[in-house]
Amino acid sequence: MKTPISAPCAATFGEVVRGRRTIRAFRPQPVPREVVAGILELAARSPSTFNTQPWRVHVFAGPARQALVDAILEAHAANTEAPFTPFPNPPPSDCSARQAEFARCYYASLSIRQDDMVARARQTTRNYRFFDAPVGLMFSIDTRLTHNSWLDFGLFLQTLMLAAHAHGLGTCPQVAFLRYERRIATHLRFEANQSLVCGMSLGYPDSDASVNQVCMPRGAASDFTTWLGFDEPL
Ligand SMILES: Cc1cc2nc3c(=O)[nH]c(=O)nc-3n(C[C@H](O)[C@H](O)[C@H](O)COP(=O)(O)O)c2cc1C
Repeated sequence: MKTPISAPCAATFGEVVRGRRTIRAFRPQPVPREVVAGILELAARSPSTFNTQPWRVHVFAGPARQALVDAILEAHAANTEAPFTPFPNPPPSDCSARQAEFARCYYASLSIRQDDMVARARQTTRNYRFFDAPVGLMFSIDTRLTHNSWLDFGLFLQTLMLAAHAHGLGTCPQVAFLRYERRIATHLRFEANQSLVCGMSLGYPDSDASVNQVCMPRGAASDFTTWLGFDEPL
């Protein structure tokens, strides 16, 4: 049977896209393996350059998740890895302005003062416990691939997060794990050519948690779009 190429329910898709947000507090309820598998099958429908599908996924639950968390926390406690910064120094000014806005919204939702670096560090450490989500994911890519394939990976991750949200699940994509990439690569026995892209927390959202109420602002499409030729007569 051919799959219809036009989505029949644009409104529902809009609700899924607008309803997704990053979740950083979860209920302990486990996520059945077949539910995670179904979401990964949907994510696998993501487009990629020449259909190369550069994604590799490692999924952890139960004792395997705990062993990974313990290994990362041990590396964190050793404090021998430099903090990971995903942006150049100095970042472009619009990037740093948005990062500052993010920090204001994020820490306010946790009642953490901006200058309380101890509380901020404590919250950052929660990344390494997958924010207590019952499922943790790690994503890796072949190091020989370039930005085209990383772009493909981003599409995969977004499809995965939307699919999770459509199933009533919450996600937090996490670059924070990159600080401990070496430890994670050893723990996961990465092949020599695998590089960590990011991690992700997955589980049923704790809808009472204030940190999950944050609706991060976005610029309007008019802020980043240049329109050409639309208002000119044919
Ligand atoms: C690739 C990527 C990495 C991220 N890394 C982290 C992270 O390490 N820790 C975290 O709490 N949030 C992380 N986030 C979540 C962002 O902070 C979040 O997407 C952004 O603030 C917009 O909020 P929203 O997802 O709720 O719309 C990451 C998001 C992306 C796309």
